[in-house]
Amino acid sequence: MTYFKVQSLCISFGGIEALRDITFEVKKGEIYAIIGPNGAGKTTLFNCINGIYKPGKGSVVFKDKEIQGKRPDQVAKLKIARTFQNIELFSHMSTMENLMLGRHNFIRTGLFRGALMWGRRSFAGKEETAHRRKVEEIIDLLDLQSVRNKMVGSLPYGIQKQVELGRALALEPEILLLDEPCAGMNSEEKQDMIFWIKDIQDTLGVTILLIEHDMKMVMDISERILVINFGSMITEGSPQVVQQNPEVLRAYLGEENGIGAVA
Ligand SMILES: Nc1ncnc2c1ncn2[C@@H]1O[C@H](COP(=O)(O)OP(=O)(O)OP(=O)(O)O)[C@@H](O)[C@H]1O
Ligand SMILES: [Mg+2]
Repeated sequence: MTYFKVQSLCISFGGIEALRDITFEVKKGEIYAIIGPNGAGKTTLFNCINGIYKPGKGSVVFKDKEIQGKRPDQVAKLKIARTFQNIELFSHMSTMENLMLGRHNFIRTGLFRGALMWGRRSFAGKEETAHRRKVEEIIDLLDLQSVRNKMVGSLPYGIQKQVELGRALALEPEILLLDEPCAGMNSEEKQDMIFWIKDIQDTLGVTILLIEHDMKMVMDISERILVINFGSMITEGSPQVVQQNPEVLRAYLGEENGIGAVA
């Protein structure tokens, strides 16, 4: 069975090729990183996978089924969740409310509508209790107890990133697409995030596709790495192999968090 595969993916914007012939396969349970300089096409790749963009050519296969062409909500229903490079949360709502909204794919009666429907009230109540229980598990897992009732917009940036991870987990994903989960974090927050990403892989068995500029983190936690530059694949392989590729070193030369800084 093919668990997850991107095949010959291409997309252009106004005649400029943002992705050209991208092909890779991810194994179930793996942490698979996608790296490349700014503007390489990493976020565009996630946008093609989760249906925000429509690729001009190519396919995305999940568990032997073509998912390219599906809408983002349909992809989410298949249990492919994501976080965004620029946090996308409801900043005027609490942590708990944001995580509950992350459950929307499961809610049959409608979270708010349910309470108004007398005939189905007890059912809606039971359903909501089950969702709350699931959200409580995520709050425990990510250590968010102290901010559960705080408005997300008032929280430090690093904690907001954690809440966004929690919102993605609320979908009970099989695949998690993380777009720069450590960007803007201090080293302590990064360590926590790395711990949780590993924990999500280990304890929940989630397959993780990770875009990240912090090369130390990428080299530490990824099983395999895909390197893209100007929309094209440079190489793919284990951290050891990728680090030694001359083209990769060239692409990163001069970058602040460049691979050179790790060696
Ligand atoms: N909706 C769009 N319209 C036009 N051009 C776009 C669009 N989305 C992405 N691009 C272009 O595609 C290229 C890749 O952008 P993308 O955001 O995927 O890069 P990235 O690798 O995620 O970079 P960064 O590391 O800075 O986040 C860029 O040249 C960008 O301007
Ligand atoms: Mg990006």
